[in-house]
Amino acid sequence: SRVLKPVAGVAVQNGAKNFSTTSQKNFKVVVAGAAGGIGQPLALLLKQNPLVTRLALYDIAPVTPGVGVDLSHMDTPAKVSGHKGPEELPAAIKDADVVVIPAGVPRKPGMTRDDLFNTNASIVRDIAASIAQNAPKAIVAIITNPVNSMVPIASEVLKKAGVYDPARVLGVTTLDVVRAAAFIGEINGVDPRSVTIPVIGGHSGVTIIPVLSQSQPAVKLSDQAKIKALTERIQEAGTEVVKAKAGGGSATLSMAYAGARLTGSVLRGLKGESNVVECAYVKSDLTEAAYFANPVVLGKNGVEKNLGYGKLNEFEQQLLKAAIPELLKNIKTGEDFAKK
Ligand code: NAD
Ligand code: LMR
Repeated sequence: SRVLKPVAGVAVQNGAKNFSTTSQKNFKVVVAGAAGGIGQPLALLLKQNPLVTRLALYDIAPVTPGVGVDLSHMDTPAKVSGHKGPEELPAAIKDADVVVIPAGVPRKPGMTRDDLFNTNASIVRDIAASIAQNAPKAIVAIITNPVNSMVPIASEVLKKAGVYDPARVLGVTTLDVVRAAAFIGEINGVDPRSVTIPVIGGHSGVTIIPVLSQSQPAVKLSDQAKIKALTERIQEAGTEVVKAKAGGGSATLSMAYAGARLTGSVLRGLKGESNVVECAYVKSDLTEAAYFANPVVLGKNGVEKNLGYGKLNEFEQQLLKAAIPELLKNIKTGEDFAKK
């Protein structure tokens, strides 16, 4: 098997304190799907990021311009614009540095993320096509589910348009890392922000692989049954929220937090900070799967370096083995759709 290619010493940072080496500190960020459960709080958080000087909100919902007006009354520098409907999509995307995409339908109880594919595939395809035309150099961060298939779709669309750069397309898996750190913080009795924990693979069920053996500090769980239970809780944490919301959607607030963190890290990379590390689902040759999530260094052109996933213990190797066929299937579904 070609599955393992360890890279030693990987650490995921929760916000490295670095200094700037270049000048650009003014970026245009677009939220596509900005009126939704994730989009609105994500926009709220991005409006507070000093690196964001222009914040464009795009959605098909009639409330979108109003969300823009609302946020524009905040006394932070970012200039906000609201764009409603496909005819206003080009203006929203034009000259973007980063496009974050939470557009699309969420799960209800009993659904898998794959059940969202038929609705969300064309939404992501169309937004990617507009990015190819209006901001071909933008970093694209995809939140829309199923992430494992949406990233291949966007990548194929950009490829067809001749503007694909694998360093610039990311699937957002930050929420898996945030959850793992939250749960470990609780178990260890420490501030979860002091926990670094890589979560690798993809973003659905068995493809979510928390590498608990690499947690810093070490997870205070002695027996393997508890490690297994924690692993499964992290894998099923999205479903835990879907069930708790009882038909009212899936994670929105924790996702907005995670999405704002990832976007902030992308911007710090673009600005020229060094050592900005996040887990993300990216084009990859580490395994048989053409896309794979693990820690990457974010720099001036997006993904600057893939840090791999280090050494896995026996249990984690089994998890990886179980994830690969599912990832391959998800990726093929996305690529087949885009090639149609
Ligand atoms: P939501 O229904 O509250 O919001 C989705 C928004 O997308 C709505 O405002 C809707 O009008 C908009 N939209 C629909 N079609 C559009 C189009 N063609 N162009 C632009 N906007 C469009 O849903 P939500 O809770 O915000 O979730 C959004 C997506 O994020 C879902 O697919 C969900 O599964 C996914 N999600 C991913 C993660 C992750 O970790 N990657 C976490 C949570 C949710
Ligand atoms: C999550 O992990 O919360 C998201 O992927 C939404 C979902 O459907 O679980």
